Amino acid sequence: MRSKNLIVILCLVFGVNSALLAQDAEYVGAAKCKICHNKAGTPAKPAVKQYDIWAASLHAKAMASLSNEKSKAYAQKNGIADPAKDAKCLKCHSTFWNVKESLRGTITEAEGVSCETCHGPGSLYKTNAFMKPEVAKTKGLIVPSEALCKKCHNAENPFSKPFNYEEAKKSISHMNPKAV
Ligand code: HEC
Ligand code: HEC
Ligand code: HEC
Ligand code: HEC
Repeated sequence: MRSKNLIVILCLVFGVNSALLAQDAEYVGAAKCKICHNKAGTPAKPAVKQYDIWAASLHAKAMASLSNEKSKAYAQKNGIADPAKDAKCLKCHSTFWNVKESLRGTITEAEGVSCETCHGPGSLYKTNAFMKPEVAKTKGLIVPSEALCKKCHNAENPFSKPFNYEEAKKSISHMNPKAV
């Protein structure tokens, strides 16, 4: 405690913004979450494999869509050379391209719309010591809301479909059956 106070005082003296002391969380990538969020479970207590569910979802395949026929046809009509390299498309199809360069850590472009788009950058909360809901939230963990989904699920997407939050949430659900 004492040394923290000293640092604060030094910062005041030297005019350093104390916010600089707080480390910004970095994006670590889905492979890191997989270590703990893809457990097999037991017949008595089945686990939900969050990683496998996500990996089979369209979110994990969002980069591939930027190279499909639909994207190519749209690109040709709208003067886009390569949708898989264009910021106009990448910003919603890849978490990597959606975050500050300095915070990219070990996340890759290929993982598309990754865990941390919805749950926040994981470098500070991804340890067992912190992965208790109330603690993790103070380390940047997010439990997403409809507003977060609508940052991408909106009419700016050239192939936008109507978005029903409850239905969409159900179709990507990777919740553990807590009662078991
Ligand atoms: C070292 C193991 C470990 C790693 C790595 C890990 N988690 Fe967790 N996570 C857990 C455990 C254990 C819980 C359950 C905590 C509890 O219920 O007390 C949890 C809970 C969660 C929850 C639910 C929180 C809530 O409030 O209900 C989310 C969301 C989550 N983790 C996302 C992630 C994401 C995203 C990553 C990768 C960036 C990740 N975790 C990496 C162990 C881990
Ligand atoms: C960073 C942008 C982004 C965010 C945030 C986001 N999504 Fe998506 N979502 C996408 C993209 C891109 C696709 C299409 C992937 C593809 O087909 O290439 C998609 C596809 C989906 C699909 C499949 C749609 C279909 O036609 O089958 C569902 C369901 C979905 N998202 C639900 C959600 C929910 C629920 C949330 C919020 C909790 C959310 N998404 C947040 C970008 C996002
Ligand atoms: C505002 C965010 C956003 C932007 C920008 C965006 N997309 Fe998407 N894209 C989505 C979402 C979300 C979906 C899933 C469809 C839905 O539920 O609306 C999607 C789906 C798609 C699909 C699958 C559609 C289908 O019906 O099979 C293709 C292909 C696609 N986008 C290509 C592109 C291209 C090419 C660009 C750039 C010109 C682009 N997107 C820009 C969010 C976006
Ligand atoms: C498109 C957004 C989105 C993506 C991508 C996503 N999640 Fe989630 N996640 C959600 C939503 C929505 C919930 C449910 C929150 C609620 O209503 O409690 C959730 C819940 C969870 C929970 C809590 C489960 C429980 O039983 O309490 C964990 C753990 C979790 N996610 C881990 C992950 C991991 C690991 C990944 C990547 C492999 C991932 N999520 C990818 C949106 C997402």
